[in-house]
Amino acid sequence: MAKPVKIMETVLRDGHQSLLATRMRIEDMLPQLSALDSIGYKALEAWGGATFDSCLRFLDEDPWERLKTLKKNLKTPIQMLLRGQNLLGYNHYSNDVVEKFVQKASEHGVGVFRIFDALNDVRNLKVAISAALKCPEKPEVQGCLVYTISPVHTNEKFVELALELKEMGCHSVCIKDMSGLLKPYVAEDLIRKLKEGLGEDFPIDLHTHCTSGFGHATYLKAVEAGVDIIDCALAPFSSDTSQPCTETMVAMLEGTERDTKLDRQKMAEISKHFLTVKARIIKEFNLKGYFDVNPSVLDFQIPGGMLSNLANQLKENGMEDRYQDLLDEMPRVRKDVGYPPLVTPSSQIVGTMATFNVMTAPNRYKMVPTEFKDLARGKFGRCPVPVERFFLTDTLKIKESDIIEDCSVEDAKGHSFNDFAEELKGKGFINASEEDVLSYALFPQVAEEFFKKHYSPFTAYKKD
Ligand code: CO
Repeated sequence: MAKPVKIMETVLRDGHQSLLATRMRIEDMLPQLSALDSIGYKALEAWGGATFDSCLRFLDEDPWERLKTLKKNLKTPIQMLLRGQNLLGYNHYSNDVVEKFVQKASEHGVGVFRIFDALNDVRNLKVAISAALKCPEKPEVQGCLVYTISPVHTNEKFVELALELKEMGCHSVCIKDMSGLLKPYVAEDLIRKLKEGLGEDFPIDLHTHCTSGFGHATYLKAVEAGVDIIDCALAPFSSDTSQPCTETMVAMLEGTERDTKLDRQKMAEISKHFLTVKARIIKEFNLKGYFDVNPSVLDFQIPGGMLSNLANQLKENGMEDRYQDLLDEMPRVRKDVGYPPLVTPSSQIVGTMATFNVMTAPNRYKMVPTEFKDLARGKFGRCPVPVERFFLTDTLKIKESDIIEDCSVEDAKGHSFNDFAEELKGKGFINASEEDVLSYALFPQVAEEFFKKHYSPFTAYKKD
C-alpha cells in the first residue's frame, strides 16, 4: 500500500546554520515563501536553533518580527528547534521563562515545537513540552532522541526514551542525529524497533547530517523500515555538514510505494534562488560554504571544526606531536563523565578537558575547567551513566554539597520572567514588550545593543 514519505524542509534553518553560520536574512527568504508553501512539505523549519541569536547578533533583525513575517506568508506549519530548559540560550532558565517563551512562540506562529535536551534528560524537557501542549493554537509537539554512540546507548534504550516522550504527551518523535553518526542498517533497526514499541501510527521523524557521508543511504534504509518523515534541505543548502538533499530524496523514491509525490520541477526553481542567496552570503560574510566529508567523526564524535581547534590549542603549547594522545584521551574523558552525547556545549567541554589532560600528562584532571565540573556534578542534568562519586569528590575535588541530583531545583532558583522585565526597565527600556524581555533573558548584552539601536522611544520615556 502506498505510504508517501513526508518531507520536513530545513533550508530556512538548519541548512544555512550548518553551511553558512546561520546568516540567512528574512529578505533572502521572502521571495520564495509562497513557492515553498505550494510544495506540500510536512513542515518548514524556519525558527529556533541558532537563528534567534544570529538575528540579534549579526543580522540586525528582531527574531520575533521574523517569525511574524514568516507566519503571515506561510500556511505550511513553521517548525522551531528548542533546547528544552535551555530554550535557545546557553543557560537553564526558570520554568516561567520557559513557559512564557513557548506561549509567545506559539502565538506568533510556531506550528511544530521540536524539543530536545543534550543529555536526553527528560526532566529538562518536561516544562517546555507541557507548555507547548497547553498552547491554545494546538501546535504539534515533537520530542527528540539525541542520537549518539556509546556502550550504553543501544537502540533498545532509545526506544525506552521514545516511549517516555510519548507518555509525556508528544505527538511525534524525532531521531536527532546532529553529527551524522547513524549508520544505514542501524537506522533500519532503530526505526523497526521504534515502530514496534510506539505503534505503527505514531509518527517518527529522522534528522541527520551528511557529515560522515551516510546521510542519503541512512534515509533510504529508514524509509524502507517505515520512517514517516525525513528532514531534507534543498540542493544548495544540502549535504556536507547539512541535511541530505530534498530533490535527491524525492527522485530516489519516485515510482516506489513510498513516493513523496512532491514536484521536483517546482523545487528546482526555488533552488535557483537559494543558490544565488548562498553565493551572496558566502561573499558578504567571507565564509567557506562547503565542508569535506569527515569520516573521523565516527571515531571521535567530535565535529571536524572542533578537532582542528583542539589541535591548534596543542600546537600553541608546542605539543603538536601529542595529537594522537588527544584522540585517545577524548573517549576516556567521555567515559569518566558518563558518556554524554557530544553536542554543543558538551562537545566543547569534553574536548577541552581532554586537551588539558594531554597537556598535564601523566597527571590527568590536574587542571579542570568549571564547565567540566558543572557537567560532571549534574548542573545540566543527568549524564547517561551516573558519574562515579570517587571521580567527583577525589579526582575533581567537588564538594558533596555541590553535587546536583535534580537540576530542576537549581533551575527554579534562576531569574523569573519578572526579574528580567524589571532589569530591562531599570536600564531605561520601560516600554519593552514581553517578547523583548524574552530576547533579553536569552541574550542580555546582544539584545540590549539591539534595543539601543532600534528603540529610541524607550530612551525618550526614560524616567529620570
Ligand atoms: Co541538525
